[in-house]
Amino acid sequence: MSDLRIEGLTITYGGAKALDNLSIEVKTGEFVALLGANGAGKTTTLRATSGLMRPAAGKIFFDGVEITKVPGHKRTALGIGHVPEGRQIFPDHSVEENLQLGSFVRRKHRAETTQSLEDMYGLFPRLKERNKQAGGTLSGGEAQMLAIARALMSRPKILMLDEPSLGLAPQLVLELFKYLKRLHAEQGLTILLVEQQARLALQLAERAYILERGAVKIEGKSKDLINDPRVAEAYLGTAS
Ligand SMILES: Nc1ncnc2c1ncn2[C@@H]1O[C@H](COP(=O)(O)OP(=O)(O)OP(=O)(O)O)[C@@H](O)[C@H]1O
Ligand SMILES: [Mg+2]
Repeated sequence: MSDLRIEGLTITYGGAKALDNLSIEVKTGEFVALLGANGAGKTTTLRATSGLMRPAAGKIFFDGVEITKVPGHKRTALGIGHVPEGRQIFPDHSVEENLQLGSFVRRKHRAETTQSLEDMYGLFPRLKERNKQAGGTLSGGEAQMLAIARALMSRPKILMLDEPSLGLAPQLVLELFKYLKRLHAEQGLTILLVEQQARLALQLAERAYILERGAVKIEGKSKDLINDPRVAEAYLGTAS
């Protein structure tokens, strides 16, 4: 199981509300997109879920267990994987070291780490070719693949990605999204994807939430949202 449930979450930055009574849910095996304009609260939602921010109010449940006060590293061990905004790989560590750091929460299972590394090299052959190279020398697309592979090294049940397409050429974005689609379809990975490229995200995800000022403005199935005039005008850049 990998149900994620966020109930009435409020997060403030020095009095200003970044999230305002936000409730969303991602069911096991779902691919859900989290959309919205700059500053809507997408990153804050992911950071709160992985334990990097403390909410002023509200609760977070994972697999039916409340994790609101569980520290971040324990949430990783429970199966919450987070690919942060801006990738945040270690530039001076090699590609392989970056990957190994991703499996830190599972360090007691050494054989498993070796297997996970092989899996990642199978999934992203480019990382294998460059495994001795410093993280900081990778291209933007390779760095994003490394950030995703690193998160997968902890064997997450749910993978949350924060704008993975940012700064990538269109061709690379399509390649990256193909990987996400495969992880979801072939391995049944539960995915929560934050994206600015709303149209692309709606083509991938089954369902989406659109945030505005820290709360859910519109939610629904992707195929309905793509044809929803409110969505088309405000978020897809196509008046209809
Ligand atoms: N460190 C911070 N200090 C103060 N305010 C912050 C901080 N980080 C975010 N905020 C504010 O919280 C709100 C939500 O920000 P958040 O980063 O979650 O938005 P976002 O949807 O991820 O935006 P973007 O699309 O630009 O990444 C915004 O109003 C933002 O200005
Ligand atoms: Mg953000």
